[in-house]
Amino acid sequence: MLRLAVPKSYNLVLLVEYDLLFFLSKVQVIRQLTKLSRRGRVESVDSTFRADVLGGLSAKPKRLACKYFYDERGSRLFDAICGLDEYYLMRTELEIMHRFGPEMARMIGTGAMLIEFGSGSSVKTRLLLDQLENDNTTYVPVDISCRHLQITARHLLQRYPHIAVRPVATDFTADFELPSLGSKAERRVVYFPGSTIGNFEYAEAVALLSRIPKLCGARGGLLIGIDLQKDVCTIETAYNDAQGITAKFNLNLLARINRELGGNFNLTRFVHFAFYDTANARVDIRLVSCRDQNVEMGSDEFEFRAGEPIHTEFSHKYTIEGFEQMAAHAGLRLERCWTDDRGYFAVLYFGAGGTNGE
Ligand SMILES: C[S@@+](CC[C@H](N)C(=O)[O-])C[C@H]1O[C@@H](n2cnc3c(N)ncnc32)[C@H](O)[C@@H]1O
Repeated sequence: MLRLAVPKSYNLVLLVEYDLLFFLSKVQVIRQLTKLSRRGRVESVDSTFRADVLGGLSAKPKRLACKYFYDERGSRLFDAICGLDEYYLMRTELEIMHRFGPEMARMIGTGAMLIEFGSGSSVKTRLLLDQLENDNTTYVPVDISCRHLQITARHLLQRYPHIAVRPVATDFTADFELPSLGSKAERRVVYFPGSTIGNFEYAEAVALLSRIPKLCGARGGLLIGIDLQKDVCTIETAYNDAQGITAKFNLNLLARINRELGGNFNLTRFVHFAFYDTANARVDIRLVSCRDQNVEMGSDEFEFRAGEPIHTEFSHKYTIEGFEQMAAHAGLRLERCWTDDRGYFAVLYFGAGGTNGE
């Protein structure tokens, strides 16, 4: 059964039920998914996008939320960033996953529902799914980038015929419904790689993490990847690559506003700017206006002074102890920690005990 649902509680949620597909041959799976893309309209139109952009460009200083980087083009550009030599984050986390994936899979256990926040292309997840394939696992990739999620889910279905893949396209910062699995009492574990948590300021991060015990129940857990503090040069180089892909990724936000909201940003009049703010242990990413200029978006107009920034992203860098303390405020208990030899990145497993939302 294939079901495309758009619950009222959130902007656009794609729940794809793969119960029967699970038993179909690969050819049938592809046929069913092709039908889904023809029948179900999977759009990236988000009614809050316009309101958030209007609010952000009217604020002082101007800002845009980083979740809006990820339309289809943004997701592809992020994948390109992940392949860059300078972007140690992807390489290092993958190295940890290759080395310790089997141990992590054992902590997730059999019969689990693995729920990934911000799944993107699910590249690291494959190292877990390789281990979990015969364990009656359900994989729920959750991402705001609908089309990219759909394509990734299609690939995963083909590669893991024994795993129930049930994508949910939504904003994970708001409550969302998990796909129903009938009365099956599975264990739930949230996987949150890529140091995406680093995009959130302290209070926002605690609020987001606090929802995990509720989502997972007392027997559940959180497996999370975090970027660690290190020398400034390594960090800044990762966000200022020589090929300018990160700049393109940042500027795509303005291009997206032009495409979807009728903006008239001239992309040659803004530059990407990323620096490490040592006092706050975070990379601060901006788009800076090259000159005095006015930009229109429908009937609204915004004035920019030369040198004026639009803040687009933070990427916080942690210590393991600092992150453990922050997670404790969210009711999470550190159980295991895996790092690479240089101590660049860490993957942590937290028990969700305490609050029980079930
Ligand atoms: C930094 S990328 C990480 C991708 C992948 N997990 C990895 O580790 O390579 C962040 C991912 O989270 C998604 N994302 C960002 N903010 C989101 C939000 N508020 N709700 C749902 N997905 C979000 C993006 O579309 C993107 O795929």
